[in-house]
Amino acid sequence: MKNIVILISGGGSNMASIVRAAQTQAWEKHFGARIAAVISNRHDAQGLGFAQKQGIPTQTIDHKTFASRASFDQALAVAISHYDLPDQPALVVLAGFMRILTPAFVAQFEGRLINIHPSLLPAFPGLHTHQRAIDAGCQFAGATVHRVTAELDFGPILAQAVVPVLPQDTDKSLADRVLTQEHLIYPRVVRALVSGETF
Ligand code: GRF
Repeated sequence: MKNIVILISGGGSNMASIVRAAQTQAWEKHFGARIAAVISNRHDAQGLGFAQKQGIPTQTIDHKTFASRASFDQALAVAISHYDLPDQPALVVLAGFMRILTPAFVAQFEGRLINIHPSLLPAFPGLHTHQRAIDAGCQFAGATVHRVTAELDFGPILAQAVVPVLPQDTDKSLADRVLTQEHLIYPRVVRALVSGETF
């Protein structure tokens, strides 16, 4: 069994798109892969309710209760490691997980740690990507799925989706258009990684 652990902080719509793809495409039957857990750093993350309704174990590790970034990351690593099997380390999927991870955490999970970022990286790492794309006069925006390395929003690119920026766009309308594409590319990448297929 290949365990997939998804980390969220809020809405969890990317997590939900991965869960739905796993269900409709029968990942467990075809690839021996399942969403083993959804972990949030916030108790009020709306995505937790969706995961619970799907019967997926959920856990909250509240970063505010830790004295340092390192101690939070250690607790997170322990929680994830419960889903590592001796011959099958878990795939760790950051889906709207709004915490910067320490180099020690990234090193522990490197090679099996992926993220989705709402811009066409390497443009616009960090926050407020949609407004920054509009302000820069970009004609196209998009999303990137990438491997996580110690440098924020910078690891090797696994997939991208491109959308037009329209003259009347606000950061909200552009975010919605990009998010629709995120929901397509992220499940595709996770499926490829757990199935060994190329994409
Ligand atoms: C997405 O745009 C994601 O790329 C970004 O935050 C948003 C969160 O969406 N990091 P959700 O929590 O998956 O609904």
